[in-house]
Amino acid sequence: EVWNPNGKYRVVSTKSMPGTRWINLLIEQDCRLEICTEKKTILSVEDIVALIGDKCDGVIGQLTEDWGETLFAALSRAGGTAFSNMAVGYNNVNVNAANKYGVAVGNTPGVLTETTAELAASLSLAAARRIVEADEFMRAGLYDGWLPHLFVGNLLKGQTVGVIGAGRIGSAYARMMVEGFKMNLIYYDLYQATRLEKFVTAYGEFLKANGEQPVYWKRASTMDEVLREADVISLHPILDKTTYHLINKERLASMKKEAILVNCSRGPVIDEVALVEHLKKNPMFRVGLDVFEDEPYMKPGLADMKNAVIVPHIASASKWTREGMATLAALNVLGKIKGYPIWGDPNR
Ligand code: DGY
Repeated sequence: EVWNPNGKYRVVSTKSMPGTRWINLLIEQDCRLEICTEKKTILSVEDIVALIGDKCDGVIGQLTEDWGETLFAALSRAGGTAFSNMAVGYNNVNVNAANKYGVAVGNTPGVLTETTAELAASLSLAAARRIVEADEFMRAGLYDGWLPHLFVGNLLKGQTVGVIGAGRIGSAYARMMVEGFKMNLIYYDLYQATRLEKFVTAYGEFLKANGEQPVYWKRASTMDEVLREADVISLHPILDKTTYHLINKERLASMKKEAILVNCSRGPVIDEVALVEHLKKNPMFRVGLDVFEDEPYMKPGLADMKNAVIVPHIASASKWTREGMATLAALNVLGKIKGYPIWGDPNR
């Protein structure tokens, strides 16, 4: 699909993206926009090299693509200087290679913070209250009357939510769980989450002043402290060498038997084989997963586990957010081409 065929700058988007604002932004600024309409979900490096062609000023790409040496070299050969991932995470992008070939890299932070946190909260609740299992039970026609033991789950109020990685998304999730469900909070991050801490302190005081049970919070000095103490744990680190298989067999074993583990970050943060084993041995342990180690695949056995709620990497999938991500990705590419500062810059 080609927009503004006579535009001066050739910009390629490897996928169609929601909304029209991003398209208008580019064509109004003299770009010829080419949107790849290839049906297969994941494009190979060769597919993208072909899309880049001989002349290309910038590319908007997706987290499913491998943006390494080959693609940045191809983009640079075609005269390109700008690449934006339509994602906040950029573990699929080799930023050093981009720097080497003089290509600026952008990502799309900010617009997906609350949407992603809401999905992490949804998975926490779905796991705690066994919503998916109960839904399947109803649809299978198995409900024959109320019973005291039917789908008994966990009450979140008064339990402790643990957050690993208290950046934008982790902090938004923590606020939702503390304010929405009156959970206590323990978090681990390399940095202090000052705004989150101010919020929980003030909220705790507000509850106390109103005669309600206050919430407690602490910053853990190790991640293992969070894993041992929390009832619901949500993972929000970036994926890099230091966070690969952060949650392994030993760490799973250190968690409470009835804990809930939620992952809306990146799949390889959890050793998925170890997780399946743990789920099998501990039926009261539950997970809510939006991401998987080898997407789009799941490790054998995971899909059979009743104690797992699994969704297909949809944490940022609200209309407002996806349109915002597309707009930011276009602004990033346009910014570099036109010489404005780019919005999301992982080098900063
Ligand atoms: C991201 O932005 O990194 C998400 O995984 C997709 O929205």
